[in-house]
Amino acid sequence: MTDSHAAQLPQPFNAAFFADPYSVYARLRSEASVHHVALQDGSPIWLVTREADVRAGLYDPRLSVSKAHSRAGYKGFSLPPALDANLVNMDPPDHLRLRRLVSKVFTPRHVENLRGGIQGTADHLADGLAKLLDNEGVADVVTGFANHLPVAVIGDLLGVPEADRRPFADRVSAMVAPEHPSHVAEAVDHLHRYLIDLVASRRANPDDNLLSELIAVRDEGDRLSENELVSLAFLLLMAGSESAQHLITSGLLTLLSHPDQLAAIRDDWTLLPSAVEELLRYAHPNHMAIRRFPVERIEMGGTSIPPGETVMLCLASANRDPDRYPDPDQFDIFRQDKTHLSLGQGLHYCLGASLARMEIETALATLLRRFPGLGLATRVEELPWRTSVRSRALKALLVTNSQSSYIS
Ligand code: HEM
Repeated sequence: MTDSHAAQLPQPFNAAFFADPYSVYARLRSEASVHHVALQDGSPIWLVTREADVRAGLYDPRLSVSKAHSRAGYKGFSLPPALDANLVNMDPPDHLRLRRLVSKVFTPRHVENLRGGIQGTADHLADGLAKLLDNEGVADVVTGFANHLPVAVIGDLLGVPEADRRPFADRVSAMVAPEHPSHVAEAVDHLHRYLIDLVASRRANPDDNLLSELIAVRDEGDRLSENELVSLAFLLLMAGSESAQHLITSGLLTLLSHPDQLAAIRDDWTLLPSAVEELLRYAHPNHMAIRRFPVERIEMGGTSIPPGETVMLCLASANRDPDRYPDPDQFDIFRQDKTHLSLGQGLHYCLGASLARMEIETALATLLRRFPGLGLATRVEELPWRTSVRSRALKALLVTNSQSSYIS
C-alpha cells in the first residue's frame, strides 16, 4: 500500500468521531464488519468492528503482533529496540518465555496482597481531593486522583522512585495522545533514557521489587536480554498506568450520569464488582490499540486481507455490538451477560487484569464513600475528551461534593 493509496482511504476519525465514537462504530458495523480506512497519521488499517470477528481475531494465530510482519506502513510509535522488545509485540515462543518471568506477580492471589496498599494510596489521594473541595468547592478527579493511583501501584511493584512516577506517566500520555505530533519523539527519547538510568541504578543498588528481580534474572543467564528487560519495565509501567487511570475517570463519569444505578450501588456495595465489569464493557478506553499483522492472506468478516497489512481489532466497537449485547448503548450494571473483550483474549490477555479490576473497584468505592454528595461540575456535553484514536480519555473531570460529611 503506497502513501498515495492510503491518502484516498476514508478517514473516519474527525471531530464528530471524537464527540461520539460509538455512533460512528454503529454506522460502520451496520455497513460491514471490516473497513479499509486511514488513521489520523495516514496509516492504512483494516478496522474490524463486529464482536464475532474481533473475538476471532484475538485468538487467530495467523495474526501476528510482531512488527516484523508489517509491510503496510504501520507507523504506531517508532520505538527504539530497547523499548519495543516487549510482550505486546512478541509472538510465541519468545512471548511465553517473557510472560512466564512476570506472570506470578500478577496472579489474583498475589494481587490480593496489594489491596491494603492500594486502599492506603486511594485514601491519601482522596484526602487531597477533600482539601480542594473544601477550599475551592470543586476538584479535578483526573489530576487530583486518577492520574496518580495506577502509576503509584505499578511504580511500587516495580520499584520506581515516587518522585519519578507522575513525570513518567505524563511522558507516556504525551506519547499516546500528543498535543502536537512532534512531542512523540521527545517523549519516547525521555522514557528510553529514564529507563536505562533506572535499570543502571537498580543494578548498582538492588531492592526487593520486581525490577531488581528481573535484573537478577537478566544477569544470571540468557533468559532475558538487556533490551527485553528495559522493554518489559516500559510496558509494565505504560500498560499499568494508562488504561486504568482513564477507566477510573470515565467510570466515575458514567456512574455520576446514571444516578439510579449509582443509588443502587450505594445501597448495596456488593454490586460494585458487577458495575466494574459493565464499566469495562461500556467505557472501555483502548479504542485503536489492538493491532495485528496477518502472516498470510486471511478472510475476516467476508473481507480478504493481504499479508503484512495492519488489522485493528476495535474492542470498543465490539463491546457495543447489538448482535452480541441487547441494548448495547445502555449502561446496565444488572446486565445478565457481563463478559466483554476489554481486557483482550487469548495469548495476550491482559496480564494486569486482576490488578486493574482491584484498582478500579478501590478507586470508585473510595471516591463514592468518601464524598456522598459527589456530582459533576461540568455539563456532560462540555467534557474535554482527548483527541487520540488510540485511547479515549478525559482531560479533566471536575466534580463538586454537595454534602461534606465523611462516611467510611
Ligand atoms: C482498565 C485497565 C486495563 C485495560 C482496559 C487493559 C487492557 C488490555 C488489553 C486489551 C490487552 C491486550 C493487548 C493485545 O491483545 O494486543 C492488555 C495487555 C496487557 N496488559 Fe492490560 N489493561 C489494563 C490494565 C493493566 C494493568 C493495571 C497492567 C499492569 C501491569 C496491565 C498490563 C498489561 C500487559 C503487560 C499486557 C500485555 C500482555 C501480553 O502481551 O501478554 N494492564 N491489556
